[in-house]
Amino acid sequence: MTATALQTKVQPVLEGTLQLEVTNVSAQTDSITSISFGDPLGELLPCYVPGSHLVVQHASGANAYSLTGSGSAPTEYSISVLRVEGGSGGSLAMHALAVGDRVQVSHPRSAFAPAATAKHHLLIAAGIGITPVLSHARYAAEWGASASLIYVHRPGTGAHVAEARALLGAGLTECLDRGSFQEVLTRKLTTQKLGTHLYVCGPTAFMDSVLEQAHDLGWPKGLLHSEAFSGAALDDGEPFTVNLARSGVTLSVPTGVSLLETLENAGLSIPNMCRKGICGECSVPVLAGNPLHRDLYLTDQEKEDNAAMMCCVSRSLDNELELDL
Ligand code: FES
Repeated sequence: MTATALQTKVQPVLEGTLQLEVTNVSAQTDSITSISFGDPLGELLPCYVPGSHLVVQHASGANAYSLTGSGSAPTEYSISVLRVEGGSGGSLAMHALAVGDRVQVSHPRSAFAPAATAKHHLLIAAGIGITPVLSHARYAAEWGASASLIYVHRPGTGAHVAEARALLGAGLTECLDRGSFQEVLTRKLTTQKLGTHLYVCGPTAFMDSVLEQAHDLGWPKGLLHSEAFSGAALDDGEPFTVNLARSGVTLSVPTGVSLLETLENAGLSIPNMCRKGICGECSVPVLAGNPLHRDLYLTDQEKEDNAAMMCCVSRSLDNELELDL
C-alpha cells in the first residue's frame, strides 16, 4: 500500500475540532472559489495568527487551506480554493460546497506568521499562493506594519487582485510573466532595508527559486519564510521498531506502513484528521530516538527538540524509537 493510500481514510468527528457552516461561496476566477465558514449560532470564531491554515475534512479525507483574513476577531474563516481536476478530490469537494452545508475543521494553525521584529514585510506570491500572503497584507494594513507585495499571476486568472491593490496601493507590484518577475525580484532582493523579512508562497519550484536567490544574495535563513501547499510525495520509508514505554509493548513498523497505522493495528486509538502531516492531531510524545520528521505542522525548532512527532507521516532515523504511550 502506498503512503498516499494510507493517508486518505475518512475520519470520525474529533474532539477539539470545530463544526462550522458554509456562510458564503463566491467565484474569484473561473477556477478559484472563495468559501467562508461561520459558527452556526453566529458566535465569534477563535482568533488566528496571519498566515494560518485550516484543515477542512471532506468525504475522501482532509486538506489544509490558507485563511485569507487578518485573524483578528473573526466572524468567519475564509479560504480560496483552486480547482484541481484529477487531484485527491479535496478541491472538488470544496467547490461543491453550498451555503448552509456543515463542515468539520481544525483550529487554525500557522507556521508562516509575520515576524514581530520585522522592519518591513516583503511578500511574494504566485497564483493561488496569494491566499496566506493576503492574510499578511490585511494584518499589515490593520496594524500599520510596513509591507509590500510582488504578485505573479496570469492576466485574468489572479485571485484577490482588487483586494491586494486596495490593501497595498503602490506597495503592490504585479508581474504577468516570468521575465518581468525576475527583474522585479532581483531589484527587490537587493534594495530592501535592514530588518526586512521575506515571505513566499506559490508552487514549489517558484518558492525554491526565490529562496535560493535570496540566500545567494546573502539573506540570512532566519529572515526567509515560506508556506508550502502540501507535503512532497513521501516514499515508503525504512522499517523500524517502536517501543511503547507505558504499555511495555514493542511494535515493528514495516516499510510502506505508517507509524499511525501500526499503532492503530495494535489497538491504540490515536486522534488524527488529515493523515498528511498538516493538522497536528496525531502528535505522539517521543522519549528516545531520532524521529525522521516529514510533516508540515511542527516548526523547525520543534523538530529539532524531538519531543513529539506526527505519526501519520514521520518515521525514525534510528532502528528504534521510544514513545510515551
Ligand atoms: S493526522 Fe494530521 S498531522 Fe497526522
